[in-house]
Amino acid sequence: MNTILVGAQWGDEGKGKIIDFLTEDAHIVVRSQGGNNAGHTVIHAGTKYVLHLIPSGILRPGKTCVIGNGVVIDPVALVGEIEGMKKLKVKIGKNLLISDAAHIVFPYHRALDEQREIAKGKNKIGTTKRGIGPAYGDKAARTGLRMCDLIQPDVFSAKLQAKIKENNAILKALGAKPISFKEVNDTYLGAAEKLRPFVTNTVVFLHNALKAGREILFEGAQGTFLDIDHGTYPFVTSSNTTAGGACTGSGVPPHRMDRVLGVMKAYTTRVGEGPFPTEDAEISDMLHAMGREFGATTGRARRCGWFDAVATRYATMINGIDELAVTNLDGLDKLARIRVCTHYKLGRKTIEVPPTDTRLLVQCTPVYTEFPGWQTATENAKKFTDLPANARKYLHAIAELTGAKLRIASVGPGREQTIVL
Ligand code: GDP
Ligand code: IMO
Ligand code: MG
Repeated sequence: MNTILVGAQWGDEGKGKIIDFLTEDAHIVVRSQGGNNAGHTVIHAGTKYVLHLIPSGILRPGKTCVIGNGVVIDPVALVGEIEGMKKLKVKIGKNLLISDAAHIVFPYHRALDEQREIAKGKNKIGTTKRGIGPAYGDKAARTGLRMCDLIQPDVFSAKLQAKIKENNAILKALGAKPISFKEVNDTYLGAAEKLRPFVTNTVVFLHNALKAGREILFEGAQGTFLDIDHGTYPFVTSSNTTAGGACTGSGVPPHRMDRVLGVMKAYTTRVGEGPFPTEDAEISDMLHAMGREFGATTGRARRCGWFDAVATRYATMINGIDELAVTNLDGLDKLARIRVCTHYKLGRKTIEVPPTDTRLLVQCTPVYTEFPGWQTATENAKKFTDLPANARKYLHAIAELTGAKLRIASVGPGREQTIVL
């Protein structure tokens, strides 16, 4: 069975943890969009691993991980990530493949990302400053460089020189520091030599694997409401984070996908700017006081709020979510009452789907239903029936409101803190 795993909220739903868990039953794990803006945390046997570009399946020996054509790669960051993982005793060799068609992120993308944010002032997006938007911009404008260019030094240097000239003129006009061709050329060609053994046509690899009956797990990055088409535009990332992105970003056709699994927290978080109807100071303060909900990529405190079923219902529709993994249930353990947003009010109108226009979305007020809390620690629950009755009721209620089948409940960051229904 081939599974697409997507974030059903604004990212950081716990996708890395669930991927690591599900990899046990898969042969191959594929990242198909996003870049090192992603931060996927896996905690195993007391060690914390934060993956940015490498699929979270890498921790399981015997599995193959693929960075697909739809990902944008900062080669220097990727080399750093590979070396960091090796220091943590993660084996990386023939088990990692990198698409030769994936686009490359350059220092001028990061500089432009930063400059555009500065220019936006209070309307900034709050990006991760990893150059993701400008890199996808070059891809769409058909002026990007790809991994197949990087591994051919002559071709690469000539193309890079032209790009640096073009971008330095822009950076100069913005009053920003120009980029040195020599410096970038040297560091990127250095990274190219380290990455060369991994670079291949991953589309062909995946199709051969499908022919051989291998099971593939597609690891989404970011979340549904950060999707460039379906998210809270312009407060989004620059790729298709929804299920369709797994096809275009890997070259695996839609009819080979068997299941879409949506990952969502038992509450909601968002990092960066943009509308967030159920944002709430009480739950934010509680989670931050517990030392939770700080970003895996930038360390920023995540904004927190109540579970938003208007959002997750819409996510179910767009992605075709069949099954749900609900994470961080234990984050609600202390609460006496838990709120869930079932609808929005926009003026006097009750609405069931988030408005496309962000200016209207910020005017929406959530309509809540309250659930009694369980005020019992859930972190040691191994089976669904180990959970307190109120926690089980809550999980069933949010799954029903979301419109998909509850499949996994997660009660802690560890592999063993995962309940399968
Ligand atoms: P991702 O980007 O979707 O992979 O999620 P992140 O790794 O950025 O953020 C999720 C955070 O929640 C990480 O720190 C995980 O270790 C943690 N996590 C995941 N599931 C659970 C859970 O059920 N309980 C607790 N306490 N932490 C969890
Ligand atoms: P994972 O895969 C949460 C957010 C940024 C910002 C917006 C645009 O760990 O869930 P970008 O740098 O992509 O141009 O920033 O998207 N963002 C994420 N938020 N989790 C992520 O990834 C994110 N990747 C980007 O905070 O609001
Ligand atoms: Mg994350």
